[in-house]
Amino acid sequence: MGLGQSRLEDLVAAVRILVTGNMGYVGPVVVEHLRAARPDAELYGLDTGFFAQCLTGTDLLPERRLDCQWFGDVRHPPAGALDGVDGVAHLAGISNDPIGNTYETPTLEINHRATVELARAAKAAGARSFVFASSCSIYGLAEDGLRTEDSETAPLTAYAKSKLLAERDVAELADERFAVTSLRFATACGMSDRLRLDLVLNDFVAGAHAFREITILSDGTPWRPLIHVRDMARAIDWALDRTADNGGAYLAVNAGSDEWNYQIRQLADAVAAIVPDVNVSVREDAAPDSRSYKVSFARFRELAPDHQPQVGLPEAIEDLSAGLGRMGFHDPDFRNSELVRLRVLENLRAEGLVNEALEWSRADEPVARV
Ligand SMILES: NC(=O)c1ccc[n+]([C@@H]2O[C@H](COP(=O)([O-])OP(=O)(O)OC[C@H]3O[C@@H](n4cnc5c(N)ncnc54)[C@H](O)[C@@H]3O)[C@@H](O)[C@H]2O)c1
Repeated sequence: MGLGQSRLEDLVAAVRILVTGNMGYVGPVVVEHLRAARPDAELYGLDTGFFAQCLTGTDLLPERRLDCQWFGDVRHPPAGALDGVDGVAHLAGISNDPIGNTYETPTLEINHRATVELARAAKAAGARSFVFASSCSIYGLAEDGLRTEDSETAPLTAYAKSKLLAERDVAELADERFAVTSLRFATACGMSDRLRLDLVLNDFVAGAHAFREITILSDGTPWRPLIHVRDMARAIDWALDRTADNGGAYLAVNAGSDEWNYQIRQLADAVAAIVPDVNVSVREDAAPDSRSYKVSFARFRELAPDHQPQVGLPEAIEDLSAGLGRMGFHDPDFRNSELVRLRVLENLRAEGLVNEALEWSRADEPVARV
């Protein structure tokens, strides 16, 4: 309840939160969580809609939980989108390495520059908190012990670099009245109204269902911290209310839990223990995976004791299995399907709907408020 209490007009106006990128994988889960946790808040969404059509087993358009949906590009946000906003949960962005490698310039423009400009605009509009969805991938190869927020960063990809640059520059904007939080999320997993299968645990569960096989494209030893999407929502909920006296005006914090540092092989075995008749195959001869890192979540534990991850790995797998069941999922070619973000963008490109800058081709992109 921290937001919105210090200004007189807030006594009558509801707290307004803008969730950017709300029409992706994490967004619908965040909106559902915020709607339940803050029934009186005004929840707004802003998204360009690349994956709007990629609904997965839901009978409700997730945006119906919002008070307002803006369609627009965060590189030039619709006029008025930040008016009266108290807090911003900024999820909009290019969300993985394969897209970042293919579209390096737009990745930097969207994830870095647009993030900084959006934070600047939010501050100018009177917002009191800005939450940036960053990533633990900024640590790069880091097998020698747990990475803390004070560890050196070594981003290996355009995606990871764009997140680190954004962190550096949004930090400059933070002050006593504008708390900025970079949540360095572990790799997401779990069911969503817009499920992605280009994430390791989701891929394993889908493989188990589609062809009773989990193929590990490494020797299985790399470490990867994971977080469930519902626990990401809990962390964002906390960060929206965070003030400078809890962690400083600017805070970069790893968001996840120490117990969720898993080796890839452990993840595959956990899926095989739950989904029946599944074979796990490991490429013993595979090149070492450079994305191996273990992360310490001690700072997050200390600062956000009431918003710690709650979902367990077996629950996450069972929930995903049930979700795939609701979707009637059995596509053995799912890695080339619309459940993979890069594939969706390539299809939009092939149809001439989106250009190489990852903008909608129509000059008059609809900037609409619904
Ligand atoms: N999924 C993960 O494992 C993970 C981990 C760490 C951080 N994150 C970050 O969390 C955020 C959400 O991830 P996700 O998994 O939901 O990704 P996603 O790709 O499913 O969703 C991203 C959303 O952003 C929107 N978007 C992209 N460019 C935009 C633009 N220029 N203007 C407006 N909207 C735009 C897309 O349309 C999409 O709805 C991303 O910033 C991602 O980098 C995700």
